Amino acid sequence: MDIKVLGIETSCDETSAAVILNGRKVLSNVISSQIDIHKKFGGVVPEVASRKHVEAVCNVVKQALDEAGLSFKDIDVIAATYGPGLVGALLVGLSYAKGLALSLNKPFIGVNHIEGHISANYIAHTNLEPPFVCLVVSGGHTHLVYVKDYGEYEIIGRTRDDAAGEAYDKVARAIGLGYPGGPLIDKLAKEGDKNAIKFPRAYLEDESFDFSFSGLKSAVLNYLNKMNMQGLEINRADVAASFQQSVVEVLVDKSITAAKYKGVDTLCIAGGVASNSELRNQLEKRCKKEGIRFLYPNTILCTDNAAMIACAGYYDYIKYGPSKLSLNAVASLKI
Ligand code: KG4
Ligand code: ZN
Repeated sequence: MDIKVLGIETSCDETSAAVILNGRKVLSNVISSQIDIHKKFGGVVPEVASRKHVEAVCNVVKQALDEAGLSFKDIDVIAATYGPGLVGALLVGLSYAKGLALSLNKPFIGVNHIEGHISANYIAHTNLEPPFVCLVVSGGHTHLVYVKDYGEYEIIGRTRDDAAGEAYDKVARAIGLGYPGGPLIDKLAKEGDKNAIKFPRAYLEDESFDFSFSGLKSAVLNYLNKMNMQGLEINRADVAASFQQSVVEVLVDKSITAAKYKGVDTLCIAGGVASNSELRNQLEKRCKKEGIRFLYPNTILCTDNAAMIACAGYYDYIKYGPSKLSLNAVASLKI
């Protein structure tokens, strides 16, 4: 029997709704971004985000149904992100989804946002099946995850401080680029020399799969201060390229080691930073050398979107059944 899942995502600054058929086929994926509003503040302002979700959510869902050529009665399951994320923002999509499920008398399922990011790979690669290792790198998370089976995860490593995307955004701000900084550093770094400045690489203890990016961020800030104090000119492209190389080198090394450690033949990446061109290039090369299949979603599916939530919701629903309508938002939900 065909199952159509309506997914709703409001964990940060994108209001998104999507319809997915049988977990893999995207019938629609509407994303309404608030970036232009938050740009003025140099980052996401939580209360503004919640209010914008309230304004947008009804129309975004309506548009997702229209684009799929469906009406509410055609939907079989309603899925919404319930964490991790900004709690006020999460509550908008979650409450909307639960109200909709109640009024339509359809099952509701709460989805973990990180699980959603990983699941974007199921949509992008319809023959992908677990087990595999996935590096989830976004503005809020940096996790190395062993995907044992659908809906079954083991965290192999995580960041001990800043997320990779957060480091990109902070360094971008320090060198006078806009928000979000990741794509801007990615672009500027192409004009710079990645070996120009030797920033630290945080490998932590031997055999650790954890990450740390706050030391690197401080090293970049110290370098900029030193150059300014000495009245020396800063080559921003070199700073961007050298910073990026420090991030990418550690992400690549640990991901490859994790895939070998778990004995899987496939490595996936997910999350906003997974659209970084240097990360993709270097992983592509290393995976080829090691005989590992390397997969990533397209850019739309890397950053926050509801198609990935509907996909994760489908597999969780099949395996575990619906969530209770008393489910609450959990800002620091673990996978
Ligand atoms: O997954 P996402 O949309 O939201 C979270 O769940 O956090 O990720 C947004 C993050 C931002 O920090 C942004 O700067 C980063 O992803 N990002 C990138 C690139 N595109 C987005 N970082 C590096 N290179 C990129 N091309
Ligand atoms: Zn995200």
